[in-house]
Amino acid sequence: MSIESHKPTSIISGVGSYVPSQVVDNVTLSKKVDTSDEWIRSRTGIKQRRFATEKEATSDLAFIASQNALSDAGKKPNDIDLVIVATITPDMAFPSTACLIQHRLGIPKVACFDIEAACSGFLYALDIADGMLSSGRFKCALVVGAEKLSSIMDWEDRTTCVLFGDGAGAAVLTNSGEGPQLIGFKSGADGSNPTLLHQPAGGSLEPASMKSLDARGHFLKMNGREIFKSAVRVMSTAARELLSENGFSVDDVDHIIPHQANARIVESLSQRLAIPLDKFFCNLDKYGNTSAASIPIAFDEATKASIFKQGQLGLFVAFGAGLTWSAVLVRF
Ligand code: UT7
Repeated sequence: MSIESHKPTSIISGVGSYVPSQVVDNVTLSKKVDTSDEWIRSRTGIKQRRFATEKEATSDLAFIASQNALSDAGKKPNDIDLVIVATITPDMAFPSTACLIQHRLGIPKVACFDIEAACSGFLYALDIADGMLSSGRFKCALVVGAEKLSSIMDWEDRTTCVLFGDGAGAAVLTNSGEGPQLIGFKSGADGSNPTLLHQPAGGSLEPASMKSLDARGHFLKMNGREIFKSAVRVMSTAARELLSENGFSVDDVDHIIPHQANARIVESLSQRLAIPLDKFFCNLDKYGNTSAASIPIAFDEATKASIFKQGQLGLFVAFGAGLTWSAVLVRF
């Protein structure tokens, strides 16, 4: 099956991102946590990350990333008729971060909601937005991945607190015009082992209490080794299935933007897919793992660096808590 036989789907008219100005490198971190620059670099590839200030919330990061994406797309707030924000660190449980940024951006009273698929969230949101645009009822969507992971990191857990950072990325999707075209989606989940990566307290199962605070239940908890193995497996399977369903092979892929979690995960994925490492775009050394923001931040950086040439095939692929996964094909 060739690409020509596919019904055209959404166009990415513009992309933007924002990371907070505070840079924290591994050496600085190792003064606060029992770790070292050598351990973090060799086990993860991360050299530094950005942290928002106490006063900055996820919506503040999302707001600036969205302004940048709107400007890149040459769109005005009035043009937007759908806002979707992917995040696991919303400003508050409700209202949604999407509603908060709608108001600040001056977007009309259109549909706004958050989705939660952890680190796969931005790709899930692209999939949802594309479906809504394809229905013909929506014309121009603002899709955002934004996180303030520093707000749920446990500084007493060195196995997690060295991995994450804060940031936001956004894309404007339209159903016509110029720009990279979304041509295929594959999203999935396996909810059989939810505690591999979770934030146990603060929801209806374990509402905030003195007990939940004492148990540090409002912080992110993770079984890193198991997540590592699952990540490589689910991302390679989703990528292969998506390529094959769209009539492509791994050799057709020109660029991959993987979820920016760990350089060793990216290397294992490269081996498992038999796609050379130089086709993978990585910036996790600068930002750490920013969950739902990681792919749009990387996509924005790679776009601004003119890495993609017209006609090339791109693959975005992510995994996250749930476990969730998602792969998206893009024709540049
Ligand atoms: O977006 C999805 C989010 N999650 C992920 O992507 C995480 C996936 N998993 C990983 O990236 C890796 O499993 C980690 C980076 C989290 C850990 O790497 P690892 O090679 O799996 O290390 P490990 O958990 O097997 O720990 C090895 C050793 C342990 O010491 P012992 O038991 O061998 O003496 C840990 O206690 O490293 C120790 N360790 C640390 N040492 C210094 C764990 N964290 C640290 C640390 N600094 N920060």
